[in-house]
Amino acid sequence: MPRRKPETAVVHPKKGKGHGPMVEPVHLTTTWQLDSAKQGAAFSSALGPEAFYTRWGNPTTRVLEESVAELEGGAKAIATGSGMGAISSAILAVVSKGDLVVAGKSLYSATTELFTRVLPRWGVETTFVDPAKRGSWREAVTKNTTLVYAESPANPTMGITDLREAAEAAHAVGAIAMTDNTFATPINQRPIEHGFDVVLHSATKYLGGHTDVTAGVIVMKTDELWDRIWFLYKILGPAIGPMDAYLVRRGMKTLPQRVRQQNATAQALAEFLEDHAQVERVHYPGLKTFPQHALAKRQMDGFGGMLSFEIKGGRAAGIRFVESVEVATLAVSLGGAETLVQHPASMTHGPLTDEERALSGISDGLIRVSVGLEHVDDLIADFAQALKKAR
Ligand SMILES: Cc1ncc(COP(=O)(O)O)c(C=O)c1O
Repeated sequence: MPRRKPETAVVHPKKGKGHGPMVEPVHLTTTWQLDSAKQGAAFSSALGPEAFYTRWGNPTTRVLEESVAELEGGAKAIATGSGMGAISSAILAVVSKGDLVVAGKSLYSATTELFTRVLPRWGVETTFVDPAKRGSWREAVTKNTTLVYAESPANPTMGITDLREAAEAAHAVGAIAMTDNTFATPINQRPIEHGFDVVLHSATKYLGGHTDVTAGVIVMKTDELWDRIWFLYKILGPAIGPMDAYLVRRGMKTLPQRVRQQNATAQALAEFLEDHAQVERVHYPGLKTFPQHALAKRQMDGFGGMLSFEIKGGRAAGIRFVESVEVATLAVSLGGAETLVQHPASMTHGPLTDEERALSGISDGLIRVSVGLEHVDDLIADFAQALKKAR
């Protein structure tokens, strides 16, 4: 059987026919009745049984896990109660005292904080590299590197990592290659096809897609990696509730259509902004002027619904713009039906030091946009009026 297309896979998460509910019921239970102590003992020591205790596994959650694993081309997945639950569990499962991490310099702020403020307490240091510089991953890895961590496109400057180059650098020293694929989604990019071992998602964003559920997913290329990460996940305990797993799965039925529409609207909005006199620079991988456009085209099937731009007039103009939009909404987060704008220097990346912000390429006038599902004409008109007010 050829690999199923995403449109088919998301609508029919379970392969095979037979009598049963069309939609997996929400198994709102924390525990399962057991036949015998012997059965309980077997479940206790099993890896990820789906009907024993919900932190170990749950049939509703399992459907979500299998569905995301299929889209990403991985062996298995673990769903979690947030994107950071997925990211922290996966990272902590593969690093030990004395290890070195090599990571891209522009990451989601809490991921940066995990590397800079938390892991050093356990003797794990991180070297940050500029993914735009060819050969930077290979130069940074050492024999103590156990993890290479990427985010592409990166938040919020849309910097692209050459996924194949990063994965090869990791494997050259026996490290695990892990990447946050939240911005791209498996519709636009499947990092396992480019050599990655672990793919992470904040399912709060595009996978859920309706701005109503906080969730995460870890996808592993191999069963062996799943066993290793599941063991730590089970101890740390960032489990997803069955109702939330159901909501993410329900949202995923329209993931391909939503993402493709968001790709098209983001492209049109980016082209409008690029031609606007008040805009210094637009960061969108789909623009021919984007420095890494050719690389993005090579490894992505679509350029995504996220973009950022630098407004003339710095911090004051940036804040005035985000407070002036009327169709779009001033809010953090991304990936939903509503277009959201935010000002990273004062909001999402506010917790970072000035140096960390500069390293991530976040200028005072940078505005991040998560393009939603509104009509592109209404969005362009709204951005035009907000730019006028920000002048
Ligand atoms: C790229 C990226 N990764 C991870 C996260 C964390 O996800 P969550 O808020 O679901 O923990 C976010 C949140 O904004 C994000 O943008």
